[in-house]
Amino acid sequence: MSTSDEAFPRGAFAREDENEDRRFYGADRFVSHLDATALATVERIVGALVTEPEPAVLDLMASWDSHLPSSLRAGRVVGLGLNERELAANPALNGRVIHNLNREPRLPFADAIFDAALCTVSVDYLTRPVEVFAEVARVLRPGGLFLVIFSNRFFPPKVVRIWREAGEDQRVRLVEKYFARSGGFTAPRLYVSQGRPRPADDRYAGLGIPSDPVYALFADRLGGPRETTRELPESLQKHHGEAPEEPRARRRWVAETECCPHCGERLTRWRVPQTPFTQWSSEVQLVCFNDACPYYEGGWRAFARQGNPGSYRFMYDPDSNTYHPMPVPTPTAYRDGIEAAEERS
Ligand SMILES: C[S@@+](CC[C@H](N)C(=O)[O-])C[C@H]1O[C@@H](n2cnc3c(N)ncnc32)[C@H](O)[C@@H]1O
Repeated sequence: MSTSDEAFPRGAFAREDENEDRRFYGADRFVSHLDATALATVERIVGALVTEPEPAVLDLMASWDSHLPSSLRAGRVVGLGLNERELAANPALNGRVIHNLNREPRLPFADAIFDAALCTVSVDYLTRPVEVFAEVARVLRPGGLFLVIFSNRFFPPKVVRIWREAGEDQRVRLVEKYFARSGGFTAPRLYVSQGRPRPADDRYAGLGIPSDPVYALFADRLGGPRETTRELPESLQKHHGEAPEEPRARRRWVAETECCPHCGERLTRWRVPQTPFTQWSSEVQLVCFNDACPYYEGGWRAFARQGNPGSYRFMYDPDSNTYHPMPVPTPTAYRDGIEAAEERS
């Protein structure tokens, strides 16, 4: 069974790698899944929303960092995940549980024992999300917080198809739907931080991309006395719900002109390769194949600093109105897709 819910298209929760998740996550990944600016934002959100004294916290799909700010004096903190060594290295935890939510969405905890549950940059791997959200509601006390944070990076083989094919706005709608269909929560509220500058010492700083976006959706378990009192401070709220002017204007400009925002050259229609191993949201993407583009040129230098060959080209998806870096191993890579697309148009 992929999900108990019929509100999603058939195959929505299929994944490229359907092998046992413990095999994939058995390999240690002591990495940061977001850049330092985004991680600091995550900590501030957690600190602002978890307001109970000495809260009992469930860190769902946990690894070596629970993103609790040092100001948060938590009582019990239980991490549930799939990698023993990552959980053992997590200093915030005083309880650790290995449990595969895709095999068994039922949580191994009694009813109403947690004040807050966090799920950071992991909701995209759930194949039975509505059941898991309902279980989170069960283990939270009435009024308890469920905070789901995500960005736009993921491990492609393990992410569910509906997430992979969605644009960022659609992913927000999807998580809202998980909350709603679980039946256990107040209407979730959204906070978005995007377009902040990437830290100068970040390994991708040379690519000209901003800090990783942070999407936070949060709701209270139904039945609590304080359903509307969790608030983010003003300093966080000013990014609430919408992109700052520069990236939003840039996206509009790209959509209207179909030109690369880095070099101004017209984007090329590029037909995506059809293989059994790749999935694309649309068959044609718009790509900057200008070899003098500063984004592409900077990519070679950034890759070289990491000891890797290759670069990125700017790629725009007109269907979802989103853009992404397209990794290219050589200057001629993927150019065959250009002719195929141009011939058809
Ligand atoms: C991208 S990492 C995020 C880790 C952590 N939440 C963080 O913010 O750094 C995804 C995590 O989800 C966990 N995970 C993936 N699939 C899972 C599953 N089926 N059941 C439980 N945990 C899972 C993995 O162990 C992994 O640590």
